[in-house]
Amino acid sequence: MANLLEARDVTVSYLSSDGSHTALDRVSFSLGKGESVGLVGESGSGKTTLGLSILRLLPQNAVYGAGSILYDGKDLLSMDEKSISRVRGKDISIVFQDPLASLDPLFTVGYQIAETVRAHRPGIGKAELGTIVISIMEAAGLAGAESLQHRYPHELSGGMRQRVMIAIALVNNPVLLIADEPTTALDVTIQAQIIDLLKRAKQQYSLTILLITHDLGVAYELVDRFIIMYGGVIVEQGHREEIFAKPYHPYTKALLMAIPELMDIAVHNPHRLSAIPGAVRPHYDKYRGCRFYDRCSYRTPECLDKDPDLTEYSPGHPARCIHPLL
Ligand SMILES: Nc1ncnc2c1ncn2[C@@H]1O[C@H](COP(=O)(O)OP(=O)(O)OP(=O)(O)O)[C@@H](O)[C@H]1O
Ligand SMILES: [Mg+2]
Repeated sequence: MANLLEARDVTVSYLSSDGSHTALDRVSFSLGKGESVGLVGESGSGKTTLGLSILRLLPQNAVYGAGSILYDGKDLLSMDEKSISRVRGKDISIVFQDPLASLDPLFTVGYQIAETVRAHRPGIGKAELGTIVISIMEAAGLAGAESLQHRYPHELSGGMRQRVMIAIALVNNPVLLIADEPTTALDVTIQAQIIDLLKRAKQQYSLTILLITHDLGVAYELVDRFIIMYGGVIVEQGHREEIFAKPYHPYTKALLMAIPELMDIAVHNPHRLSAIPGAVRPHYDKYRGCRFYDRCSYRTPECLDKDPDLTEYSPGHPARCIHPLL
């Protein structure tokens, strides 16, 4: 599969009153054309920072270190502001967890979809624009688009608002969609419908999707491959079946054990975990050794010697652990 996007050693720090804190530490990965990848990890692992880095949407106090993100032969991290704004919302679009925060309360949803088209096609005629708005709303599963387009965001349900956000993200036929926890704020039934919508969009538009979530179970429905993050680094990557059947990293295994349905099947695993004890250690960049050390059931003193590298234990399935669960 040809690579659509190639991130090399992406490094991002945040500056705050107590100094600088590395949120992404030399993160490298690639996305194949038409592939769906789940970026999974606990809160604070750096998922949103990575998603926002791709479009250079990080807040003011973020500093890019070394690294590059190649897209279409160009480095997104070093291109000028004008060029990156041409990529945003056109080639690459992004959907966030909270549609109310992303939508403007003062404008109808139809107007906001139309504006996204106009931003990249300023000269577009009214009739064509109207048709595009209706058809993308229908494709996003918004029934009764003709009248719905005149509604304001607060008049819609959470699920419908997220469909509007997806319509906005898809209306310019992007190549890559980054979806950052798109279903977290929704109830389980609506969550499944949104994942289904993304699945259809993937097939229909041969879209490449980067789905950011802390929920392996939700992501499994959509993705081909997983990237598992912990404490600002990638700790494991692999095809979804391999990750589920044979995780190498103790952290990935712990994440899997936290999925209740999986636990019911895994009768040979008597230790039920509802969550992984402990939390991602703040300022993990200031310590020696493996970042997962204090929470790991498989740790040995050698784990503190150095932060391990990602090692390809089987083809396309690297893990960052000196005691992989092979
Ligand atoms: N604007 C900011 N200023 C300072 N530190 C930040 C900022 N945003 C994020 N961080 C820090 O960077 C690290 C990674 O945060 P990030 O939001 O990328 O994690 P995440 O995996 O998306 O978490 P969540 O699942 O909660 O969304 C965390 O330690 C976080 O506290
Ligand atoms: Mg996040």
